[in-house]
Amino acid sequence: MHTTDSLDRFMADVRAGLNASPKHLSPEYFYDALGSHLFEAICQLPWYPLTRAERALLERHAEAIVAPFGAGASIVELGCGSGEKLALLAAPLCKRVPRLDVHLVDVSETALDLSRRTLGRLPRVETSAHRARYEEGLSRATARRAIDARGGDGAVLVLFLGSNIGNLAPAAAAAFLAALRASLRAGDGLLLGADLVKPAADLVLAYDDPLGVTSAFNKNLLARMNRELGATFDLRSFDHRAAWNAQDSRVEMHLVSRRRQSIRVDALDLEVAFKEGESIWTESSYKYEPDDVVRMGERAGFRCFKQWIEPIGRFSTTLLLAEERAGR
Ligand code: AVI
Repeated sequence: MHTTDSLDRFMADVRAGLNASPKHLSPEYFYDALGSHLFEAICQLPWYPLTRAERALLERHAEAIVAPFGAGASIVELGCGSGEKLALLAAPLCKRVPRLDVHLVDVSETALDLSRRTLGRLPRVETSAHRARYEEGLSRATARRAIDARGGDGAVLVLFLGSNIGNLAPAAAAAFLAALRASLRAGDGLLLGADLVKPAADLVLAYDDPLGVTSAFNKNLLARMNRELGATFDLRSFDHRAAWNAQDSRVEMHLVSRRRQSIRVDALDLEVAFKEGESIWTESSYKYEPDDVVRMGERAGFRCFKQWIEPIGRFSTTLLLAEERAGR
C-alpha cells in the first residue's frame, strides 16, 4: 500500500526507468507485502547464506557489539526486515538499562509489523515504527534522542544490516554513509553488515536459486506494476537472470523479455516497447573485501571499532564509531 507521496514517486520512477536505456527500476520497489514475504523466504534458502552468516555473527558477538553503549542509548534499525537480528542485539542491552528505545525504519508496513511483533517479546523495550525512507526515518529517530535519553549519554546505535549497503552503487553508498554520519554525533555507532566476495558460482546460486524463489521475488515487481499501475506485463514472457559482474564486484539481477512485445502502463498512459532479450535491470548487489568496508566507513567520518567475519558464508559485520569532527 502506498501513501500519495510514495505512489507519486513510484509512478515517476517507473516512467523514468522504463523510458531509460538500459531500462531499470530501483530494488526498493521489491518490498510490497508479497515481496517482503518472498524476501523472508529467500533468507531461509540454503543457497542464500547472508542472513544465516550475519545471524551467527550477531548471536556470537552481541555482547561485544553493544558493549560501548549504555544507559540512555537507543537503537535505530534502517530496513528492519523481521526484527530477529535487532532482537539479538537489543536483548543484552535491555538487560543493562532501565529502558531501551528502539526505532524501526522501513518503507514496508509488513516489515514494520513483523519487527514490532518480534521486539514485543523483550522486556523494557519501547518500540517506535517509522514508515519512511532511511534518511527521513533516521532524522525522526535522532530528533527523539534528547527526550529518550533520560540522564544517559543518549548515544545512538544505527543498524544497517543484511548487506543493504550492497544495493547501493559505490558513489551512492559513500553519499549515504556521509549523510548518515552528518546526522550522528561523535560516539554514536553504525553497525554495518556487508556481504563479501565469494566464488562466482556461489554468488549466482544465491541469486538464482533452484526453487525459483528469487525469480518470483524479481518478477513480483512486474506483478506489482500490474496491480498498482494497471500495467499489462505477462509474467511468463519475462525470465529472471542473475549474473556476477567481477569487474564491478556486483551481482546483477535482470528481468529479460523473451520476445518482442509492447507493454501498457495505464496509470502513466505509457506504452513501452521491448526487444527480444531486452531487460529491466532491477538490482545490483555489491560484494566487498573486508578492508573495503572499513575504508568506506573511514571516508565517511567513522573509525572502525571492530570487524567480525563469518568464514563459511563470508559475511562481515563492522562496528563503526562516529569520529569527533575537526573544528567542532
Ligand atoms: C536486501 N538485499 C541486501 C538483498 C541482496 O542480497 O541484495 C536482496 C536480494 N535480492 C535477491 N536476493 C536477495
